[in-house]
Amino acid sequence: MEKRGSFGSRFGAVAAVGGSVIGLGNIWRFPYIAGENGGAVFILIYLSISFLISIPIMLSEFSIGRAARRNSMGAFTRLAPGTQWKWVGYAGILTAFIILSFYCVIGGWAFEFLKESILNQFQGKTPDQIEASFKGFVACGWRPIIWTVLFIIASTAIILAGVQQGIERYTKILMPILFILLLGMAINSLTLEGAQKGVAFLLKPDFSKVSGSTVLQALGQSFFSMSLGMGAMITYGSYLRKEEKMMKVGALVALSDITVAILSGLAIFPAVFSFGINPSSGPDLVFLTLPNIFSQMSGGHLLSIVFFFLLFIAAITSSISLLEVIVAYMTEELHITRKRAIAYTATAICITGSLCALSMIPDSILTIDGKSLFDLCDSLSSNIMMPLGALFIVLFAGWVLSPIRLRNEMTNHLQYGITIFPVIRFMIRFVIPVVILLLFLNQVGLFGRLP
Ligand code: TRP
Repeated sequence: MEKRGSFGSRFGAVAAVGGSVIGLGNIWRFPYIAGENGGAVFILIYLSISFLISIPIMLSEFSIGRAARRNSMGAFTRLAPGTQWKWVGYAGILTAFIILSFYCVIGGWAFEFLKESILNQFQGKTPDQIEASFKGFVACGWRPIIWTVLFIIASTAIILAGVQQGIERYTKILMPILFILLLGMAINSLTLEGAQKGVAFLLKPDFSKVSGSTVLQALGQSFFSMSLGMGAMITYGSYLRKEEKMMKVGALVALSDITVAILSGLAIFPAVFSFGINPSSGPDLVFLTLPNIFSQMSGGHLLSIVFFFLLFIAAITSSISLLEVIVAYMTEELHITRKRAIAYTATAICITGSLCALSMIPDSILTIDGKSLFDLCDSLSSNIMMPLGALFIVLFAGWVLSPIRLRNEMTNHLQYGITIFPVIRFMIRFVIPVVILLLFLNQVGLFGRLP
């Protein structure tokens, strides 16, 4: 049995978990989903869900992972041997595959944009020219595939180095820089001509836009952004040291995650309105908007290089956490060497990722019911697999794991957090399962269709 790795310090743990949660979900997915769902109301719901629902789920995953010290599937077989709970673990591994398939495509886009920034290709272009060049890139087919594969290779190179040496070392330095840069960009965007419209879009709620599907999308976005509902945080929880205060790690990570999402909203939406881009452009939104921001900023060339480099790193640190779920399972349960597990997984993702990239070409045949394979993977994971995964995970933590074990993990044997623990446990046992179930049934029942 290979020795299990663990995070070396509090800061290292926060950086690694933060590296997983902060990624394309905050900078690419959050603005596009918020844009499609009308802005301010969506954001309000998203914030409430993140604090009340997502943080307790993250703590549940950490507790399961650290109590079992196993991968996300093995954790269930170890804590509840001989039961069907292992299927929650398997479903998580399948979800990791689905997410990685489209995530790597966007990671590839970030990579391409890094190249374009280095070559200074945004300067002096009008919003229309920028749009045409981006659409041409996506429609080309083979170019996005090459970048997708390069992105996968880069992720695997880091994950090969193992937990502490690989994941922790890189995230520690790079995440704080991303944060500062995004803050600067948000301030810059607020000074753009016509920025007020964007600010109003972000801050003025229009409650007539709320529907069951808005809330489910906000739930899915919050889970996606915090890497919940498929075992990534079980896996990372298993690398948390016994003396680590997981409530602190969870709170810190969640706060940073939410802040980065809001900052990127503040950077993107004023610019969206200022440059006349449609806020509901879908997955293209951020990639259509960002180059315009840089092309009008003083020092935009250099900043765009730094930004896309950091976006690329943020995407990599998230994608390695998804890979880690699969790789930890393969090494611990199937007894394959780490190297082989990584090679098999990377090859499979190269294939499914390329199919997702090809499905984005206009009139591609890789569509079902008018939705591209890419969109299907995106909404299937966030709107179905992760809410269901999270539901079973909280049921497990609240009703199957012994209360004393849950308490010992969350409070480090009653060392801290003693007053808040009963509240969290109540949420985990009653409130969260009911909310997820209702949202889910509402979506399936009322609309009678997949996302
Ligand atoms: N949270 C990451 C992001 O915001 C994506 C991610 C990494 C993820 N690991 C995950 C999403 C596990 C769901 C589950 O970009």
